[in-house]
Amino acid sequence: MTAFDRTLKIAPSILSADFAAFGAEVRAIEAQGADWVHVDVMDGHFVPNITFGPQLVRAIRPHVKTVMDVHLMIAPVDPYIDAFADAGADILTAHVEAGPHIHRTLQAIRGTGMKAGVALNPGTPVEAVAPLLDDVDLVLVMTVNPGFGGQKFLHPMLDKIAALRAMIGDREIHVEVDGGVDAKTAPLVARAGADALVAGSAVFRGGSVKAASVYGENIAAIRAAAQT
Ligand code: DX5
Ligand code: ZN
Repeated sequence: MTAFDRTLKIAPSILSADFAAFGAEVRAIEAQGADWVHVDVMDGHFVPNITFGPQLVRAIRPHVKTVMDVHLMIAPVDPYIDAFADAGADILTAHVEAGPHIHRTLQAIRGTGMKAGVALNPGTPVEAVAPLLDDVDLVLVMTVNPGFGGQKFLHPMLDKIAALRAMIGDREIHVEVDGGVDAKTAPLVARAGADALVAGSAVFRGGSVKAASVYGENIAAIRAAAQT
């Protein structure tokens, strides 16, 4: 990864991609302006949906030229950290709700050389990350309940993003938001202090590997809206 910066990053979530064509989909979104590639891992236990595990992340890795941003919606996390490191994740994000020893988890993630992220479900107060700020490179604020793409943005999360941004101050920690981000909500989260915007349905809607320019238009629309 390149040096820390707080400029706006659009991170398409491949949860909304064609699951039979991940390599081509990743190449398409990067060619169309994606800054990071957001990879959602779900276990059917921490969230009520199952996606894929480290083997698929490893298979996608050679196609990712930017940053592979892996969001774990699994519990427990610790037994799988090495597998995701070996698979080539750049950022590995675990939920604060996923286990009783989040410090240990974050230190283990950093110990492998990956950047460590911590995610907060909508029902978790921002104060939960206050004791963790020395151990994280990214805080992910969920703006929907995790598990599925295409859900409605939860507006009360805007105050949480702003409070988190204030808490972070000058620390080199990314503020990422995930869920219901589109051209309408992007300016709200950017103004509240987010620098990494995950978007699934709003990026992939209407496009395909064969009609990849639609991805480009969708990414550009989110980016332009966020910069207003
Ligand atoms: C939700 C995932 C998201 C999801 C976002 O549990 O973590 O990354 O793909 O999808 P949209 O942008 O469609 O809300
Ligand atoms: Zn996600």
